[in-house]
Amino acid sequence: MSERGKVVILRELLPAGRQLLEEKFQVTSLGLDADRSQMKAAAAGADGLVTDLTFAVDDELLGAAGPQLKVVANFGVGYDNVDLAACAARGVTVTNTPGALTNATAELALALAMAAARDLPAAEKDLREGAWQGWDPRRWRGFELSGASIGVVGAGRIGGRFMELVAGFGGERLYTSRQPKPDLENRLGAERVELDELLARSDLISLHLPGSRESRHLIDERALRLMKRTAVLVNTGRGTLVDSAALIRALKEDRIGAAGLDVYEGEPDFDPGFLTAPRVALAPHIGSATYRSRDEMSRLVAANVFAAREGREPPNPVPGV
Ligand code: DGY
Repeated sequence: MSERGKVVILRELLPAGRQLLEEKFQVTSLGLDADRSQMKAAAAGADGLVTDLTFAVDDELLGAAGPQLKVVANFGVGYDNVDLAACAARGVTVTNTPGALTNATAELALALAMAAARDLPAAEKDLREGAWQGWDPRRWRGFELSGASIGVVGAGRIGGRFMELVAGFGGERLYTSRQPKPDLENRLGAERVELDELLARSDLISLHLPGSRESRHLIDERALRLMKRTAVLVNTGRGTLVDSAALIRALKEDRIGAAGLDVYEGEPDFDPGFLTAPRVALAPHIGSATYRSRDEMSRLVAANVFAAREGREPPNPVPGV
């Protein structure tokens, strides 16, 4: 181990955070195309690993790094890619970047909700492809969010911010959460309900849960059948929350109104059925992709590594490690 300490960025960290790390550490950055064997080789002897959601941080990778490893600093709020038990067993701290991307992700959820509700991607495609025949009173009619019942599944930071953003639409606001959220109830008039009730009452349903074994396919065939035929479903959480095949069937059979998706099962692959399903707005996992958010996330990664390396409590430890 070098005196300065060694930090390996296993893919990419933006300059805002990388330059901070470079002031104190010997930093290696592998870039977006790094494969597993390059990651394992580069990790050897590292004090800190900077990771992201696109690859698994498992016992094998931790073992390749070696016993001096102190911290896995995940560049993102979700950490379903990290084997927390393996990290705990090896005494490795895990950190993430909450807060920095709350607003950006909530805003993207709103953008997808509105795009899906008005079928904007298909309308734009028509125009771009020269298929527009002029103003047509029957075509491109969609759903309005004003006065809509809006259901937030998982009213944590991002779900809570989404609820603030949609409060101006004026309809009722429902949420599910393990714990009651008095702040959302007092400030925004939100009502805590069970998932099935939320699905049945909401015109717009926005998913803001982390990916986990428990949340996998929370929205399955049964859940989709509980929704209104006009319901708009938005997912900016994790692709695993939704059974893709069931959602595609529901859209194709006109059993729900529309869907807006930023995340997919098996990214960067996704079910090609989404490309031919009607009334769907798709984005390539860009919820946190604003200049402000990504720079702040990068700086948080650096702050977490500094603290862990110095034996201090990092600003954003992942609970339970
Ligand atoms: C996260 O931080 O978990 C996001 O999905 C990345 O944008």
